[in-house]
Amino acid sequence: MQITTDQSPALQFEADALIVPIFEAVKETRFGAGDLVDSGEVAGKPLELTILHHVNGVAATRVVLAGAGKKEKFTSGDLRKLVAAAVRLLRGKSVKKVAFEPDPDHSGPEFISAAVEGAVLGNFEPDRLKTVDPKKSIDQFTVVISADGAAQAAERGRIIAEAQNFTRNLVNEPANLLPPSAMAAAARQMAFEFGLECEVLEQSQMAELGMGALLGVSQGSAEPPAFIVIGYRPATTPTSKAHLGLVGKGVTFDTGGISIKPSDGMEKMKYDMAGGAAMIGAMRAIAQLKPAIPVTAFIPCVENMPGSKAQRPGDIVTAMSGKTIEVLNTDAEGRLILADALAYARKQGCTHLVDAATLTGAIVVALGHLNVGLFSNDDAMRDRVLQASKAEGERMWPMPLDDDYKEYLKSAFADMGNIGGRWGGAITAAMFLKEFAEETPWVHLDIAGTAWMDDAKPYIAKGPTGLPVRTLVRLAMDWKD
Ligand code: BES
Ligand code: ZN
Ligand code: ZN
Repeated sequence: MQITTDQSPALQFEADALIVPIFEAVKETRFGAGDLVDSGEVAGKPLELTILHHVNGVAATRVVLAGAGKKEKFTSGDLRKLVAAAVRLLRGKSVKKVAFEPDPDHSGPEFISAAVEGAVLGNFEPDRLKTVDPKKSIDQFTVVISADGAAQAAERGRIIAEAQNFTRNLVNEPANLLPPSAMAAAARQMAFEFGLECEVLEQSQMAELGMGALLGVSQGSAEPPAFIVIGYRPATTPTSKAHLGLVGKGVTFDTGGISIKPSDGMEKMKYDMAGGAAMIGAMRAIAQLKPAIPVTAFIPCVENMPGSKAQRPGDIVTAMSGKTIEVLNTDAEGRLILADALAYARKQGCTHLVDAATLTGAIVVALGHLNVGLFSNDDAMRDRVLQASKAEGERMWPMPLDDDYKEYLKSAFADMGNIGGRWGGAITAAMFLKEFAEETPWVHLDIAGTAWMDDAKPYIAKGPTGLPVRTLVRLAMDWKD
């Protein structure tokens, strides 16, 4: 989708559709809409969309009156959703060229970026592998505005949303087409295209490094593991000493291993690499937006299979940090690969860490599909991430991580077990990771409930959401010490 800005008067701009926000209790008198407002047909309620055709005095073929809710409460997050919903409605109607006229009270850079993001995200459909029903998507989106910085804001929105869609495409790839080696190839290709460093550690290198926890998981699959490292370095020496490490779970398919999952719904476990895909997507935007601090992504990729060489419940593995782990349940594999990835990120000099992982079903029980579960060993780091998430409308909820939870992970025969019993499953998983983040300020994001939408909404397709790409990009961009 081509993104542009244009300074001409909105009503004179030629397009297949012009999207205009309408607020509750603010009467729109243009477009002959006065009657519709009076009759209550157009009330300006959030996400209410009304299409008018061939309106007098408007160059665009259609006007979309886009309900924006109460004017005082309208945020850039609301605008992102609203434009996405309008674009999704128009996509099905052979509309190719769409314009958007922001309302003057909500037309600052944050709003322009959000509108563009909404358009790019709303235009996404996970239909790459459908050969029937030709794809209908919108080719061009123009923000009609004359304001300084509008073009830059639109460009930033494009970069971020395209990165998020890049992640969504990776997440949606079926596991037969995206084993660890293919995920590494996709990362390499992206890094090459955007001028990032990229290294992929192979199995023998992981063995040399002593990544026993990761290799224990991958040994049940015929697909070899791949450990992706992507580096961004700022052009000028930063004033900050910070080096941000982004660690993402890259389980390209999770059968559960010998502790095998029920078959019902197992097809969804292709999205068990969503955390890793989010890190690759975030790096794609970071390469273009160029934050002031170095950022390195670490993505351990494995397939969790019950092959004849698979690890067994009761096996004891030694992680790279030297700690021994009794694998009580082979389906708790994400924490095992992340244990070695967190240790490796620390060894590579990261001073601050964020991991994202589809780690537990328990976080879905706790928070549903609306909030990411956020865990941290450091209040300042937690607040940085929360602030970024708020600004991006990617909801996250802080969860507890008191030291007493560590008891739940006791093992009779090793330093720790990989599961913590029936209760507080998302917390015990986070507690396990904390042992490997050690004293480095760290945030863990459990995205099991939020990386995938089981049903479409007006503003988003069914399937991969691309969370938490925007939060990670903003975290890096806004970094101050
Ligand atoms: N990948 C799953 C978690 C998951 C569940 C992601 C639902 C997305 C949707 C993870 O590897 C897993 O299987 N976790 C187990 C842990 C248990 C064995 C302690 C779980 O949550 O059941
Ligand atoms: Zn699992
Ligand atoms: Zn998993």
